[in-house]
Amino acid sequence: MRANVHWIGAVDWDRRLFDELIPLPDGTSYNAYLVKGNEKTVLIDTVDPTMANVLIDNLHQMKVKNIDYVITNHAEQDHSGMLPQVLKLYPNAMVVATPRCRSLLIELLLIPESKIITVEDRENLSLGDKTLEFVHAPWVHWPETMLTYLKEDKILFTCDLFGSHLATSDLYVKDWSTVYEAAKRYYAEIMMPFRTVIQKNLEKIQELQIDLVAPSHGPIYEKPMLIFKAYEEWVYAPPKNIVVLPYISMHGSTKKIVEYFVAALVERGITVKQFNLTKTDIGKLATALVDATTIVMGSPTVLVGPHPNVIYAAYLTNALRPKLKFASIIGSYGWGGRMIEQITGMLSNLDVELLKPVIIKGYPKEKDFKALDKLADDILNKHKHSIH
Ligand code: FEO
Repeated sequence: MRANVHWIGAVDWDRRLFDELIPLPDGTSYNAYLVKGNEKTVLIDTVDPTMANVLIDNLHQMKVKNIDYVITNHAEQDHSGMLPQVLKLYPNAMVVATPRCRSLLIELLLIPESKIITVEDRENLSLGDKTLEFVHAPWVHWPETMLTYLKEDKILFTCDLFGSHLATSDLYVKDWSTVYEAAKRYYAEIMMPFRTVIQKNLEKIQELQIDLVAPSHGPIYEKPMLIFKAYEEWVYAPPKNIVVLPYISMHGSTKKIVEYFVAALVERGITVKQFNLTKTDIGKLATALVDATTIVMGSPTVLVGPHPNVIYAAYLTNALRPKLKFASIIGSYGWGGRMIEQITGMLSNLDVELLKPVIIKGYPKEKDFKALDKLADDILNKHKHSIH
């Protein structure tokens, strides 16, 4: 990467699920970095324990005899999980972390207290001819996180922030459109709930001169402005003229309602991103939520409530806290139910206005199509007045 700065992580081409929750259609990587000063050697982050052999082989191949510090930017185990093994291999090594990270490492990985040095925001650590500066960046996406800036080489090691779940043989970003999609998906799934603190962190790192952004997932940025500009757009820009429509249909009524309604929105010049929840990858749904102004959930009635997959989509949307401004519900029922209350009750984190839902008895009829047209008109009007 630079003189005496090396990538020594692992590319996980085969992993397809992260945290037993997030689909990884393109695999991922766990980037660890070795920085050798003329006095001290540091390892920045480790790798997921499933890739233990790769990290250990890399250390052996590079003939690393001694590690003075293991910089732990984040306590989540895909980066910290190898700490116990690394400390066994390099018994002189001390872990460097924020005070909050220290307590998590003790609790999660049983690291002895005596092995951890805590660092304050903007504290420096000299490696001889190289200097590390630690920048506390809480809540990207855990409370204990920090970034590490290598001053002489102008490299910012950002751990999860600016990452992408993308297995690639490219150490640096080469194919920006592919990385952009993976980084946006990553932002949507992991960072979006923390938009407001990310704003503060983006402001904080503007003070640094940065030549390389080296995250702990996905390729390294030689042109940091690519990812900075993308984050500015995702974090700050107003939402677009887009409706996201996750739905389920059991016997075809809701499907007909969705088809009619999507056509009505498209006629009005609104972009629709439609997701059949029996088939969709939830990462695609999360990504679509980054730019959407409105969500409309489509559901049949199951045991007086929405279909469980719709409940999951509502829960996920609420947890991810996208920029949405409006919400509504369309769907069908046979003999009654409390679908509207149940779905709206799950969207309490969102600052959305509820537009009058259209819940139809059985298969849609002429008057129902009119109600759907009216909802499409309402959305168009709301978008006209709220998107600048
Ligand atoms: Fe890549 Fe929050 O761990």
